[in-house]
Amino acid sequence: MSARLNGTALVSLAGVYKTYAMGDAEVRALDGVSFAINTGEFVSIMGPSGSGKSTCMNLIGCLDHPTSGEICINGVDTSQMAEGELARLRNKTVGFVFQQYHLIPGMTVLENVMLPLRYQGLPVHERRERAREVLERIGLGERLRHRPYELSGGQKQRAAIARAMVTRPALILADEPTGALDSETGHSVIDLFGEIHSEGTTIIIVTHDPEIGRMAKRMITIRDGKITGDAGV
Ligand SMILES: Nc1ncnc2c1ncn2[C@@H]1O[C@H](COP(=O)(O)OP(=O)(O)OP(=O)(O)O)[C@@H](O)[C@H]1O
Ligand SMILES: [Mg+2]
Repeated sequence: MSARLNGTALVSLAGVYKTYAMGDAEVRALDGVSFAINTGEFVSIMGPSGSGKSTCMNLIGCLDHPTSGEICINGVDTSQMAEGELARLRNKTVGFVFQQYHLIPGMTVLENVMLPLRYQGLPVHERRERAREVLERIGLGERLRHRPYELSGGQKQRAAIARAMVTRPALILADEPTGALDSETGHSVIDLFGEIHSEGTTIIIVTHDPEIGRMAKRMITIRDGKITGDAGV
């Protein structure tokens, strides 16, 4: 499949391979993946366990490097960027949401959400205000001083989404964000992604949840490291 490369692509992958060395053996996690995602899209990525979904997300989010192939963000080839530049791009452009939240346990909810703003050089009172605003918006205004272990699963995921949103990133990458939640709590998290998308944020979400699949306008399916389908839903 050829990449739909064009001037407006926010993310594009062209012939991306990712191989992990496992002792003497090699695991080919991605096997020639190409696709492009434009600004404003809401895309779900679906596929069986071990098919390469998280690998793909980590590469898009510049958390890892492909073995070969090209990954462009905003038209810039990330393989040509130095580590410092990549870190800035990640901080400015991408917000991450993980299944297991990855909040920092020793920090309050407010401090967790303020953290990404530290790398943007904002003064502390501004960081606190921005974080408080986002947390109030998503219904955690009463939980600012709590530690993550004092929150329910749904509240933890909301805090993690607040942390992803607080930098106002162009792109949010979410890897099974409802995987650890009961279905009702999951629904409120899904609704939140719908809202964020309607405000113009591009969203790529790995999910097994057909509800999210339905909300996304496009579904990419992956199996054994290869794209097996790419369709508007
Ligand atoms: N750090 C690693 N070292 C070695 N092999 C890895 C590593 N990360 C992933 N793999 C292998 O690459 C393949 C793809 O893994 P990946 O985590 O991308 O799958 P996934 O689609 O996200 O699965 P799941 O739905 O279970 O989260 C798997 O075979 C996995 O064992
Ligand atoms: Mg995964």
